[in-house]
Amino acid sequence: MDPPKLLGKVAVVTGGAGGIGRAICKKLAKEGASIAIVDIDKEGMDRTLEDLSTAYDNVHCAVEADISRSEDVENAFKIVTSRLGTCTILVNNAGTEGVPELLGDLEETHIDIVLNINLKGAILMSNEFVKRLKSCRQGDTGNETRGCLVNMSSMAGKIGSTHGSVYSASKAGLMGLTKSLALEFPYSRIRCNAILPGAIDTSMLTRLGQTIPILKSITGLIPQQRIGTADEVANACLYLVTDSSSYVNGAMIEVAGGYAS
Ligand SMILES: NC(=O)c1ccc[n+]([C@@H]2O[C@H](COP(=O)([O-])OP(=O)(O)OC[C@H]3O[C@@H](n4cnc5c(N)ncnc54)[C@H](O)[C@@H]3O)[C@@H](O)[C@H]2O)c1
Repeated sequence: MDPPKLLGKVAVVTGGAGGIGRAICKKLAKEGASIAIVDIDKEGMDRTLEDLSTAYDNVHCAVEADISRSEDVENAFKIVTSRLGTCTILVNNAGTEGVPELLGDLEETHIDIVLNINLKGAILMSNEFVKRLKSCRQGDTGNETRGCLVNMSSMAGKIGSTHGSVYSASKAGLMGLTKSLALEFPYSRIRCNAILPGAIDTSMLTRLGQTIPILKSITGLIPQQRIGTADEVANACLYLVTDSSSYVNGAMIEVAGGYAS
């Protein structure tokens, strides 16, 4: 049997209280990582922690924090570092679909919520992660990778979406963030990649399906003719945070069954 790929690593996963985030927590923990879940949903985080502690021996923790607030982000990293040690993997997965609205009907408060969580939150988390990894350089010899960062973008960021212009803009912003950190590898030595899920079976998709008519017939638009699973997205994430992807940096990995590829 192959040895676990992430033994001794500490991974922060935002939005790990459910859906895709929970699947990622399980997948990384199975490979030996200690997981720090950062989310606003305490009950959901407790359920994820229970799943992890039932199945895997490594130590995990959950921190209740709103990633759109810099104080929360700074505090979350302090807590994670003191409980689990230096974090070398960050998965910016937390997000919100916002309120489905057409351009022309947008409300400023709705715009702010989506941009603050999906884009500003990921930027704040990335900034703190990079700052902390840059400041502990003992033992470095060459240009080896010090850390891995994965941003959960979306196919909606690549192709746009009706009733979801702000969401799409936030996800396109994550692609820019990903490309930029990938370019900054000589300074940070952090590989940064993005995942672009298509339609994935989570509570977010259920909520959207109730309000946006096109989602009811989405499988007809997907070459593989089915919705994806959170576990399938987690597989891509595992690849991006292990040495299996050691020369992959700045990539946009589509997990969408061929939709709009
Ligand atoms: N489900 C899909 O079809 C799909 C498709 C493309 C992209 N995505 C993206 O995947 C990610 C996960 O989505 P999901 O489908 O699992 O949805 P989800 O609603 O189940 O999970 C989102 C998580 O983010 C957390 N969160 C929200 N605001 C937060 C904040 N301010 N601070 C900390 N945590 C916060 C929520 O509590 C929740 O646990 C999101 O970024 C989403 O945009 C999902």
